[in-house]
Amino acid sequence: MLTIEQNERLTQVGPGTPMGELMRRYWHPIAGSAQLNDDTPTKEVRLLGEDLVLFRSAAGEVGLIEPSCAHRKANLSYGIPEPEGIRCAYHGWLYDIHGQCIDQPSEPEGSRFKEKVKLKAYRAEELGGLIFAYMGPEPAPLLPRYDVLAWDGIKDAHSTVLPCNWLQCMENSLDPLHFQWLHRYWGGWTMNRTKSAEERDRWNASVGARGAEHRKIGFEKTDYGVIKRRLVGDETEQDDHWRIGHPILFPTILRVSHGLEFRVPVDDTHTLHLLTNYRAREEGEEPQSEVPFVERPLYDEQGLLIRDYIPAQDQVAWIIQGPVMDRSTERLGVTDVGIIMFRRMLDEQMDVVADGGDPLNTHRDPVENEVIVLPCEYYMYPGYDEVGGPFKDSVPRKPDVEAVLSGEGATLKEQEGIQARRRVWGVGEPRDYK
Ligand code: FES
Ligand SMILES: [Fe+2]
Repeated sequence: MLTIEQNERLTQVGPGTPMGELMRRYWHPIAGSAQLNDDTPTKEVRLLGEDLVLFRSAAGEVGLIEPSCAHRKANLSYGIPEPEGIRCAYHGWLYDIHGQCIDQPSEPEGSRFKEKVKLKAYRAEELGGLIFAYMGPEPAPLLPRYDVLAWDGIKDAHSTVLPCNWLQCMENSLDPLHFQWLHRYWGGWTMNRTKSAEERDRWNASVGARGAEHRKIGFEKTDYGVIKRRLVGDETEQDDHWRIGHPILFPTILRVSHGLEFRVPVDDTHTLHLLTNYRAREEGEEPQSEVPFVERPLYDEQGLLIRDYIPAQDQVAWIIQGPVMDRSTERLGVTDVGIIMFRRMLDEQMDVVADGGDPLNTHRDPVENEVIVLPCEYYMYPGYDEVGGPFKDSVPRKPDVEAVLSGEGATLKEQEGIQARRRVWGVGEPRDYK
């Protein structure tokens, strides 16, 4: 349980807030590269409580600037892309990607007025089919080249804007137990009531097999965030779920199966949930010309929150905790040790920033940043013949925090008798489970 003030300190991300300052030390994805094209060269975005316009110039450069033209405030998302930047729809002032006004065509010849006009602008860079923004002080850290973003291969991505605070989404990633309840039991209950026999069977065989009862959970601090481990069903500490686990990349990313899940703080009560998938190219398969990007809906035709795939079930859980979860009245159990650890880490890293330091998981060494290969259980790494790739012989140290759970659970009658089995990720079809 936190005080109201502690909860605000952890959740509020606007300019000048402690968490807002911490978040401004990281690169955040705000769109898919494919979303800025000839038909839609601009996009209104909101990030860390600030409204902005993202655009692609006719030369292909990406800019991120404040939305209102300095002249008489026309929204630049209606602007026209030109090789040097974006030209305002109203009277033709032209801005480059740094927000500098470089043309005021109707001012008198020789006027230097434009030199005094500059809009707020932030850095934007593309990687792995996504556009990332950095809103903090200079010198900016490097955009981290996480494995599935940096590797050559076949990728796709999708996003949904959620009406809830970002921390609810991240606390879910420090809460392995929820898989057994939210996905296997509630998700299974939902799917078995609403889906065709074929879809039900597929779901029960897949998620029913993966959601065995949790007996132990453990969390270890690393130089990129946290690695989480779990013991489920009859698994032992020699099994991948404990020995390798998978990471939370501080402060807003989950690396799991063959993708990344970004929980980007739009503002205090909205989060952009953006997910990527990766697979290696098959022999003879052509490289992608573009990474497909889809904005997925939150609601179905009946106006209900969509809940028929794993990340959507997570989204339901985060949304039903409220726009900003009231942590002043929560009652945490032993199952929540990872969440408590993560909140402490956030608190410490806000202090690091306040003291002028570089917080955890900021990268400045180009050699180390070439590709950041991350541990992930039951994962087939490209270029390796065995599951686990470079991590196959990992020996974990004792977690910083761990908890022994009862191992109790509930089973749907539709899932009775389904044998626990592990799915190997990184081969074959795109992921929609985690
Ligand atoms: S309002 Fe943009 S040029 Fe006038
Ligand atoms: Fe989940």
